Amino acid sequence: MDLFEYQARDLFDKHGVPVLRGIVATTAEEARKATEDLGGGTVVVKAQVKTGGRGKAGGVKLAHSPEEAEEAAKAILGMDIKGHTVHKVMVAEGAKIAEEYYFSVLLDRAERRYLAMCSVEGGMEIEQLAVERPEALAKVPVDPAVGIDEAKAREIVGQANFADELKDDVVAVILKLWDVYTGEDATLVEVNPLVKTEDGQIIALDGKVSLDDNARFRHPEHEELVDKSATDPLEIKAQEADLNYVKLDGEVGVIGNGAGLVMSTLDVVAYAGEKYGVGPANFLDIGGGASAEVMAAGLDVILDDEQVKSVFVNVFGGITACDAVANGIVKALEMLGDQAKKPLVVRLDGNNVEEGRAILAKANHPLVTMEDTMDGAAAKAAELAAK
Ligand SMILES: Nc1ncnc2c1ncn2[C@@H]1O[C@H](COP(=O)(O)OP(=O)(O)OP(=O)(O)O)[C@@H](O)[C@H]1O
Ligand SMILES: [Mg+2]
Repeated sequence: MDLFEYQARDLFDKHGVPVLRGIVATTAEEARKATEDLGGGTVVVKAQVKTGGRGKAGGVKLAHSPEEAEEAAKAILGMDIKGHTVHKVMVAEGAKIAEEYYFSVLLDRAERRYLAMCSVEGGMEIEQLAVERPEALAKVPVDPAVGIDEAKAREIVGQANFADELKDDVVAVILKLWDVYTGEDATLVEVNPLVKTEDGQIIALDGKVSLDDNARFRHPEHEELVDKSATDPLEIKAQEADLNYVKLDGEVGVIGNGAGLVMSTLDVVAYAGEKYGVGPANFLDIGGGASAEVMAAGLDVILDDEQVKSVFVNVFGGITACDAVANGIVKALEMLGDQAKKPLVVRLDGNNVEEGRAILAKANHPLVTMEDTMDGAAAKAAELAAK
């Protein structure tokens, strides 16, 4: 998960990285108020979008009074920056910048370690610097078993050619940024620019942080960093129910047990749907233990998708036998009651298939059609979706 600059700023602050005060505003009026709250002096109004190059696009503006900040926010809010609409700005205290530097640490997957990058020539686009003057960008591998300790931080600062009198201060900031990286389970922490102010302080003026989603379980507090407005509401609902769900844009809802089976179901549905101009509406893997609750949660997400016209439930009974899954489907339909309005095509095979089919036959639910084969079920589901 990539964070907004203001969220990165908050994490920096939490770990003691020196930052300036900043207040988020969603209207020009709020930006004026924020400027007053920051003392009414010089501020920088900054577009909060998850893409780089905001400055160049006109998304970072200096303002010398609350009125100017209001004007700047008016200009920036609603702006389109590389396909991202600006919904929020951060009003940040203005820094008196003497010099701009660059620092980042990221996960280097190919080398199976971390990589720290640092330069005394910050501010500009680092990709450009790396191409045009690679010698000005220090690239220092970081052993994951050791991390960035004091010695490593000194090595980074040395290779980046910082002036001697700055080294101690920059080392201290780098150690705190490493705290952010490990403490928050990040895969990227980038500061561009890291600045020296006219009175000699080192401050992180802009921050980019990506968090490792695989470590989310360790950080319940990161839940609130999720930008719900940017995520499909059905994907949020599925995530809350712990389901593996990806929204696609077809008409046939797909539920299966096991990622591999669901992947091939998508192919079969796409193939069968060609004739009718329909395709799979989603990927949804309910995993091994298809209990009634999990089945109900899965059906609930899929049936909520307005684009869905029919649902294909494709289950191969393994450790969880077909009779358990069939009971799950029957109970799920009971739990959903009137909410379930779309036709379901069910294909069961594998362990205890006869018992499973018998349970569905006995329940004789008006919405459920049983099919013996995966191809047959896909054809039926596509046909129903096209009606
Ligand atoms: N609080 C501030 N006070 C003074 N100047 C600032 C402040 N924040 C940013 N600036 C100036 O604006 C420039 C651009 O800001 P910033 O790095 O935040 O945006 P950007 O680099 O254009 O965006 P991105 O990092 O998304 O590419 C900085 O290099 C710095 O010179
Ligand atoms: Mg920047």
